[in-house]
Amino acid sequence: MRRPFIAGNWKMTQNRASAVALASGVAKATKSVEGVDVAVCPPSCYLDAVAAAVAGSNVGLGAQNMYHQGDGAYTGEISAAMLLDLGCRYVILGHSERRHILGETDQDVNQKVMAALAAGLVPIVCVGETLPEREAGKTLDVIRTQFNGSLAGLTGEQMAGIVIAYEPVWAIGTGKTATPEQAEEVHADLRGIMAGCYNREIAEAVRIQYGGSVKPDNAAELLSQPNIDGALVGGASLKVDSFLGIVTKALG
Ligand code: 13P
Repeated sequence: MRRPFIAGNWKMTQNRASAVALASGVAKATKSVEGVDVAVCPPSCYLDAVAAAVAGSNVGLGAQNMYHQGDGAYTGEISAAMLLDLGCRYVILGHSERRHILGETDQDVNQKVMAALAAGLVPIVCVGETLPEREAGKTLDVIRTQFNGSLAGLTGEQMAGIVIAYEPVWAIGTGKTATPEQAEEVHADLRGIMAGCYNREIAEAVRIQYGGSVKPDNAAELLSQPNIDGALVGGASLKVDSFLGIVTKALG
């Protein structure tokens, strides 16, 4: 049985005070939540402050990106070891905003996944098709290519420990959610790809989050799908009430 995992991707929002207030609010609101993993992923400059705000709570800390090199002359970058040092357990990798706005390739994502795993972080690896790709009937091909490229070379044990987030690009920040059937189709396909590359047991162990306009009022239906194991939440993670509204839907 896979444990549901709800993570908030705060993207490039908040200031120091609001980040601490939001993190403290989430920590307080999820105090008695059991059976669901919860995490918040603030901008990297607030990781330290948010780590302090969620210390001793049920809320895990995640970063939104990292660089694959260990340390050295890489101006502006942050390593996996630095994220661990700040108290991170998770790191979002290959988010579509990084792929499409900042030009990250599957190969870049793969290097980061390898470095994150080597350091002991849990990568949340994002895949997802654009609207033209969906309309051209290429969704499953795009997902397979991203999976093969971004997750090349992982051992079965490494694979079983990662989290995948299926985030259709057309559903992100648009208010257009994939229907539960559309999301389930891709999640089931991802599970099939993993069974083919590894085996059924590993495929069944990997948690696959859905992301893209998840809200308290559509979360229950999405999370009730057999292969949807959680959510990666953008906009609705920026208010304690709406984030909690999604977390409670994962309780079953
Ligand atoms: P929204 O929930 O705002 O659509 O964002 C989804 C997302 O990109 C999470 O990583």
